[in-house]
Amino acid sequence: MEYVRVLLLLALIPVSTSLDNGLLRTPPMGWMAWERFRCDIDCNNDPENCISEKLFRDMADRLSEDGWRELGYEYVMIDDCWMSMQRGSDGRLQPDPARFPGGIANLAKYIHNRGLKLGIYADMGSATCMGYPGTTLDKVEIDAKTFASWGVDYLKFDGCNSNVIEQLIGYPLMSKALNATGRPIAYSCSWPAYIGGLPPKVNYYLLGDICNVWRNFDDIQDSWDSMQSIFNWFSIHQDDLQPAAGPGRWNDPDMLIIGNFGLSVEQARTQMALWAIMAAPLIMSNDLRSLSNDARAILQNRAAIAINQDPRGIQGRRLLQEKSRIEVYWRPLSHLANALVFLSRRQDMPYLYHSSLAKLNFTAGSYEAYDVFSGKTTTGLTATTEFKVSINPSGVVMWYVYPAKQSPKDTGRYPYTRRKHRLSSFGKIIKPSYAVL
Ligand code: GLA
Repeated sequence: MEYVRVLLLLALIPVSTSLDNGLLRTPPMGWMAWERFRCDIDCNNDPENCISEKLFRDMADRLSEDGWRELGYEYVMIDDCWMSMQRGSDGRLQPDPARFPGGIANLAKYIHNRGLKLGIYADMGSATCMGYPGTTLDKVEIDAKTFASWGVDYLKFDGCNSNVIEQLIGYPLMSKALNATGRPIAYSCSWPAYIGGLPPKVNYYLLGDICNVWRNFDDIQDSWDSMQSIFNWFSIHQDDLQPAAGPGRWNDPDMLIIGNFGLSVEQARTQMALWAIMAAPLIMSNDLRSLSNDARAILQNRAAIAINQDPRGIQGRRLLQEKSRIEVYWRPLSHLANALVFLSRRQDMPYLYHSSLAKLNFTAGSYEAYDVFSGKTTTGLTATTEFKVSINPSGVVMWYVYPAKQSPKDTGRYPYTRRKHRLSSFGKIIKPSYAVL
């Protein structure tokens, strides 16, 4: 009965809820507190790690001084537990005064001065997931105005402690209220995650008109199991999820946990590769002050980032699941290029996987493949060339595949493509040998 009511209400939602902020034409990139720092509010005993303005200033410093910003990691995102337990006498949300003595507007200035953007967290419902003040329907407008007045650039709108009807009304209402502030504020909705993440309960076409990005599924935890359960779910349901994504509207399989405690180096590469294939937000939740070199190299891999940020914004798919427990993922990219990921679910030893581009649906032609993590290029591939890749257990090989120059005489044939495949967007990792096509 409830379900029928929801469907009827869905049909009634006016088109004027449309979010038209022009933001997030590529998936958002940045840093978010939650997975790594949770609701640590014990600033007396744990001043370095508690949710406080210092933590966000520290991360803004790292993003701007350690090369992250230039790579696109631009949002510094506050998650739950920033608020005071009470709204102010004016009805507005307010930060905890002891942990954010300078207030959010000042923190926004600090972040903006470093060329970065500020994200904040609120919750459609009577309380946030950790019990801080929620945004009930009557508070949607005032909260949107408050965030805009502070200079917030991104809102994660969670959904604990609300029912389906409140969500149905509240998420579009917040979209409208953010638009009405006149400040461009990217809008991340957790709505689908609270109603099972799948059609017909989730109407992804409508959602794309309301939100820039949305959480579909469970929270990521700091483990390979958690990460696998997430990308398994996204792959199993790719027919429903993949068409929903595009510039300005993204599925969100949750934060990058690379640099924490739960993943091996191989598994960290797997997260980076699959999040790039899925056109997922690249939102790290780690401690940027003490990142290992391995984690840094993976997160700052320019080719993986360029694939994630490809302007066509087509989400990729799992193409194959072999009996050998090798899987192949694929994403079409701009300029006739493609990304391929070969993933091993094996637990024994590096596996030599044999295939050809034709077996992976490529059309006839000449190709080259740039290996995103090793930096090596395979030349002279035609669609039918048999190739082999060696894939480590729980690891990946990721290829950027692009049309090769046909022959020296043929220079007129793909001028645009060839120019683009100098891959200057990958920056320093591009070797002169094929940068000069
Ligand atoms: C939910 C969200 C998480 C995080 C927590 C905060 O579980 O899905 O991403 O925001 O709430 O309490």
